[in-house]
Amino acid sequence: MGVKVAVVGATGAVGREMRRQLDLRGFPLDGEPVFLASERSAGTKLPWRDGEIEVRAVGADAFDGVDIALFSAGGGRSRQWAPVAVERGATVIDNSSAFRMDDDVPLVVSEVNPEALRRRRSGIVANPNCTTMVLMVAVKPLHDAFGLTDAVATSYQAAGGAGQGGIEELLEQVAKLVGDADRLRSDGATAEAAVDPEAFSKAIAFNVLAHCGSFTEERYTDEEWKLVDESRKILELPALRMAPTCVRVPVVVGHGIAARLTFAEPVDRDAAMDVLAGAPGLVVEDGTGRDGEPLAYPTPLAAAGRDEVFVGRVRQDLADPHSLNLFVVGDNLLKGAALNAVQLAELVAAEG
Ligand SMILES: NC(=O)c1ccc[n+]([C@@H]2O[C@H](COP(=O)([O-])OP(=O)(O)OC[C@H]3O[C@@H](n4cnc5c(N)ncnc54)[C@H](OP(=O)(O)O)[C@@H]3O)[C@@H](O)[C@H]2O)c1
Repeated sequence: MGVKVAVVGATGAVGREMRRQLDLRGFPLDGEPVFLASERSAGTKLPWRDGEIEVRAVGADAFDGVDIALFSAGGGRSRQWAPVAVERGATVIDNSSAFRMDDDVPLVVSEVNPEALRRRRSGIVANPNCTTMVLMVAVKPLHDAFGLTDAVATSYQAAGGAGQGGIEELLEQVAKLVGDADRLRSDGATAEAAVDPEAFSKAIAFNVLAHCGSFTEERYTDEEWKLVDESRKILELPALRMAPTCVRVPVVVGHGIAARLTFAEPVDRDAAMDVLAGAPGLVVEDGTGRDGEPLAYPTPLAAAGRDEVFVGRVRQDLADPHSLNLFVVGDNLLKGAALNAVQLAELVAAEG
């Protein structure tokens, strides 16, 4: 018996990857999946295998007969429709932040805490935020080995983290400014003023924005609070001390995170490298190019379109024998969103 799947937000950046993953991974589907989006997209067609599937506007009837509903259409839509989908018998795997911190909703990274899936009392499973997800794949095995106590994490987040609109805004601004080297070099403020940002608060092309999401408590952004709250929940470390800074960079897809991790146990680089080498879903790319070592470190560009999370620049902290510094990179649309959601759907489907 296959599983009937609906994708809510099927036309979006994450939805597109969900559709691809369902096909690529040979998910055990019952018939064709149901593709749902807003009224704007109703009636349009999306490719599916050798044919096409008509997009429907999301509505209660759309969930009839659906076993698993993958939600990726923003928090408001999840709050409105996920309970309806559950009531109609579906398990919801939600990509938005709507339910992530609810006690009866597990927050799950498939390689990190799959056992938490058993605690889904509400019929909803939450997919972590893309930055948290990527970081957790590298942090969890180190935490298991050495006992994490503190983390200073600075993200370098792709424009695609803000959806299809973020990707388009970056590419349009690059096209507009790329021929204007003089202004970019010597009058950046007028170059910045020449574009009209919508997805981001300032020009994203040729720029770095110390602002992801919206500012909330204590002058941190909601994106930074997600990193703190979700890491604590996933690692089951409510007392984890964390200093987050989320930064948007002009990359299409692929989030990087520079992290200083402090552990209860002293930790040296060799021991950490042994742990990271055996971690599921993680690839170590770490070499200085000196003393016969090949030069290797992860980049968002090389990680775009890849399932794995990559870690490199693993260094002993210069001051503290309990701390390590490293750089983690992952595709925010794949492991950071769609791939993990489909991996969770596979785990749910395997339960029967
Ligand atoms: N981008 C990432 O890296 C990332 C990572 C993790 C989680 N997420 C989360 O995933 C969700 C989607 O993100 P995205 O990046 O894919 O955004 P996106 O590219 O802007 O896509 C948004 C999707 O939501 C649909 N939608 C919007 N309003 C709707 C409505 N009223 N009713 C039904 N569907 C509606 C859109 O359909 P139309 O085309 O019809 O407007 C589209 O399919 C968000 O909750 C986001 O926080 C994103």
